[in-house]
This record gives sequence, structure tokens and C-alpha cells, in this order.
Amino acid sequence: MDVCVNINGIELKTERLLIRPWNYSDLNDFFEYASVCGVGEMAGWNHHKSIEESRKILEIFINEHKTFALEFKDNKKVIGSVGIEKINPLYDPYENMYGKEIGYVLSKDYWGRGLMTEAVKRVIDYCFDDLRLDYLWISHWIKNDKSRRVIEKCEFEFIKEFEYTCQNGDVRPSKGYQKLNVRRHNNEDRTRI
Ligand SMILES: CC(C)(COP(=O)(O)OP(=O)(O)OC[C@H]1O[C@@H](n2cnc3c(N)ncnc32)[C@H](O)[C@@H]1OP(=O)(O)O)[C@@H](O)C(=O)NCCC(=O)NCCS
Repeated sequence: MDVCVNINGIELKTERLLIRPWNYSDLNDFFEYASVCGVGEMAGWNHHKSIEESRKILEIFINEHKTFALEFKDNKKVIGSVGIEKINPLYDPYENMYGKEIGYVLSKDYWGRGLMTEAVKRVIDYCFDDLRLDYLWISHWIKNDKSRRVIEKCEFEFIKEFEYTCQNGDVRPSKGYQKLNVRRHNNEDRTRI
């Protein structure tokens, strides 16, 4: 079951990252990593061919209030994103539980340092402790071993394989995983925000 999320004004900190809403001033950083071939493609969208393309997506991020920017503390650059997305009803297994899907992308220059794992773990805590979601869903294209490792390191449980239709129209064999909010799950006294 889907639930409305609004990350406006939320700032989450990790050792190396400030996880916060997007600003218009992030446009150049966004275009810098989104225009690199092979980054978006792994997540199912084509790399950006112009800064105008990035501007349109950035406006969606800003207006929809569900996608975090990842600011690298060392140089204050925005180096990626983590979105708290609507669960695809085809993969929504629970009628009476609130869930969301996590999606992410990181600038190629920063791969292999454990940064996305660090970001996703913090966003999971936010989803479970603050948003009080019951579960999270996450998936990766079966050829995307890097994403698979992030998912494994964040201790999601494999559920099933399925065909995922990407933003760019590709249909890809994918693996889906979930994580239940055990903390909230046993607690009847929940106040949803
Ligand atoms: C998937 C992604 C977010 C991983 O981010 P990351 O911060 O590099 O993640 P980690 O540093 O935790 O690395 C994850 C795994 O990727 C592999 N990896 C990362 N960088 C690598 C590199 N340059 N060369 C080879 N392997 C690499 C490692 O196997 C690592 O697993 P390990 O910790 O067991 O060694 C990043 O590669 C990315 O943005 N990819 C393109 C977009 C995408 O795939 N999004 C997810 C869609 S489902």
C-alpha cells in the first residue's frame, strides 16, 4: 500500500554525506554525473544529453519531494540521489502495510567507496523510524552486480525475479528484495505522519 512522503526540510547525516532535498543550485553537479554514459543506463534511464534535460528532471525532484540529493561533505558537491518511490502495484504484496521502493544513483567518480551503502542504510532508518513505513522494496537488473552488493550489504531479503520495464522502455530481468520494519511491525501503537 502506498503512502505520501514529503522530504521537505529533512536533513540526514552520515559520516561522509549530507542527505538532503535538491536545490536549483545543484544543476551543474547533477548534469556532471547524469551525463556520463553508463550511470543512468544501469538504473534504466538514458544518460542526459543536455543540461536542459537535467534541469527538467531536477525540477521534478524539487517539486515531488521524494528524492534526496547526496552531498559529499568533503567538497560539498552533489554526487548522487536516493529516491523513496511509489511501490509498483504489481509488486506490492501487502494490502494493509505501507511500503515504498528505494532507488539510487551515484556519480561514477565515487563508485567503490561504500558511499551508496552508507546513504541507503541512513535512508532505511529514516523510512522505518521517522516515516514508520512497514516495509521497503528494492530491485536491480540481474546484470547489475554493484547494485546487488549494495542491497545485500543493507540486508534486504531476496523475494523474486520479475521483468522490469525501465524508464527508457527496456524490459529487463530483475531481482526484487524487501526489508520489513521489525521495530514498528510489533508495535500496535503507531502514529503515521
Ligand atoms: C550501484 C551503485 C549505486 C553502487 O554504489 P557504490 O557506492 O559504488 O557502492 P559500494 O561502494 O558499496 O560498492 C558496491 C559493490 O560494487 C562493486 N564496485 C563498486 N565500484 C566498483 C568498481 N569501480 N569496479 C569494480 N567493482 C566495483 C563492488 O563489488 C562493491 O561490492 P563489495 O563492497 O562487496 O566489494 C553505483 O555503482 C551506481 O550508481 N551505479 C549506476 C546506477 C545504478 O546501478 N543504480 C542502481 C539501480 S538498481
